[in-house]
Amino acid sequence: MIEFILNDKIIRTNANKSMTLVDFIRENRNLKGTKIVCREGDCGACTVMVGELSQDLQSVKYYTITSCISPLANAQGKHVVTVEGLNIANKLNQVQQSLKDNYASQCGFCTPGFVVAMANYCLNNNAETEQQMLDAISGNICRCTGYVAIINAAKELVESCKEQGKKYTLDQLIKHNFIPQYFASISGNLKKIQSTHQVSGEKIIAGGTDLYVQQANTLLQTPNLRYITLEQGQPVIIEDENCSISGLATVTDLFENQELQNRIPHLQDFLRLLSSEAIRNMATVAGNFVNASPIGDMSAIFLALDATLLIAHKEESREVKLKDFFLDYKKIDLKEGESIAKLWFKLPTKNSHFNFEKVSKRKHLDIATANTAMHIEVKDNRVVSCDLSVGGVAAIPKYLNKTTDFLIGKKVNNETLKQAIEVMNTEITPISDVRGTADYKRLLANQLVKAHFIKLFPELVQFGEV
Ligand SMILES: Cc1cc2nc3c(=O)[nH]c(=O)nc-3n(C[C@H](O)[C@H](O)[C@H](O)COP(=O)(O)OP(=O)(O)OC[C@H]3O[C@@H](n4cnc5c(N)ncnc54)[C@H](O)[C@@H]3O)c2cc1C
Ligand code: FES
Ligand code: FES
Repeated sequence: MIEFILNDKIIRTNANKSMTLVDFIRENRNLKGTKIVCREGDCGACTVMVGELSQDLQSVKYYTITSCISPLANAQGKHVVTVEGLNIANKLNQVQQSLKDNYASQCGFCTPGFVVAMANYCLNNNAETEQQMLDAISGNICRCTGYVAIINAAKELVESCKEQGKKYTLDQLIKHNFIPQYFASISGNLKKIQSTHQVSGEKIIAGGTDLYVQQANTLLQTPNLRYITLEQGQPVIIEDENCSISGLATVTDLFENQELQNRIPHLQDFLRLLSSEAIRNMATVAGNFVNASPIGDMSAIFLALDATLLIAHKEESREVKLKDFFLDYKKIDLKEGESIAKLWFKLPTKNSHFNFEKVSKRKHLDIATANTAMHIEVKDNRVVSCDLSVGGVAAIPKYLNKTTDFLIGKKVNNETLKQAIEVMNTEITPISDVRGTADYKRLLANQLVKAHFIKLFPELVQFGEV
């Protein structure tokens, strides 16, 4: 049985756990405000808000997801809010009013998704800037308005949910008609519901953002699924120079970890390039590795951090370097029943630098044509150590063994970079596909590796000289 709160009602249901949340909402509960357009997490029409009790059990932390690629099971113990659950008796709430005042809705099909995403921004006390509001709606597509009106409404909201520069509290949001009164009693009601699940089954579903795009119907018939995100674990642990990330951690868990931001400068800018906020809230790091896409962004980033995986099966476990995990196209070193329990890596130090680059057809909600990450330590202008990955130019996310070996001990300058790129070209094997020709991808890989050096060592390597 699944137990959760949907808007203001406690739901206990024996419905198929692997059906999508949007189908449960629309078909079982007859709440048709949440729309379906793509069923692939790509448009945001099905956006709902999910609230989870904070660790001290005193408040509820809300985030958005696309309910078309999330299994019903993942709602266990949570507060799910649809656009109907934001209604205030006899009037528009402040988010709806702002969209109306700015003429930000035409056909209206995308509007419920925008309303939920913007209300979620207002509910998050730590999200205070215009950039954070834009992040909040980065996964919502509108085909009518051209966005200017929507962004005007969003900017208005950023200002209107503050008092003396501070975001409104939950009580203030209720008082000023952003959200209905019942939100005040949700934390109390969530305490009465079990939020974790017993481990059962061998086939793992994490965020579902890969699985539900490819196999939503098959999963309906698959017995013994293990909904891994309902298990317990601390997503990120940092001790001295070491960082360990749980197999349950989502991209947002990394995005929101302040210590990790301090240790890997610009990490948020890099992670912002991975899909949209709603997808990042569901997508796990481990899921990205196991999906084994040659252009997986997490794979590129953690290859360059030289991560090690702890792979577990029942009481047994083994360690595998991420660079040895990818065997061939979509073939990985993971046997049936095994799971990635955690990964760990050494954090960049004062002398080392990390950078990530990605080229895709659009900035948000798009996978890469090519991506690359580099972690390099330099002393007296010489390379002491280097880990370099590149995606989209081989059958697997590629760790550049030969290129990194070549770089170690060399002076950082235009000539070294020129030669390193020649070495790289011997170890990549791009193919032509819908994302571009083999030549184009090779050129991209070359340019992106140059970009690492030009960004990290502007005084040693110059654009135009390489
Ligand atoms: C709209 C959209 C945009 C996207 N954009 C990007 C993007 O920009 N960049 C990018 O890299 N990816 C992108 N993706 C792909 C996807 O979000 C990521 O690959 C994500 O990290 C997958 O994680 P998940 O938790 O959703 O995996 P799931 O779909 O739940 O699982 C994927 C696979 O991993 C297995 N698995 C999950 N966790 C474990 C574990 N701990 N141990 C063993 N096996 C496990 C599952 O059994 C399954 O085989 C996008 C997807 C969508 C829908
Ligand atoms: S229907 Fe498009 S994201 Fe869900
Ligand atoms: S108003 Fe028509 S899609 Fe946005």
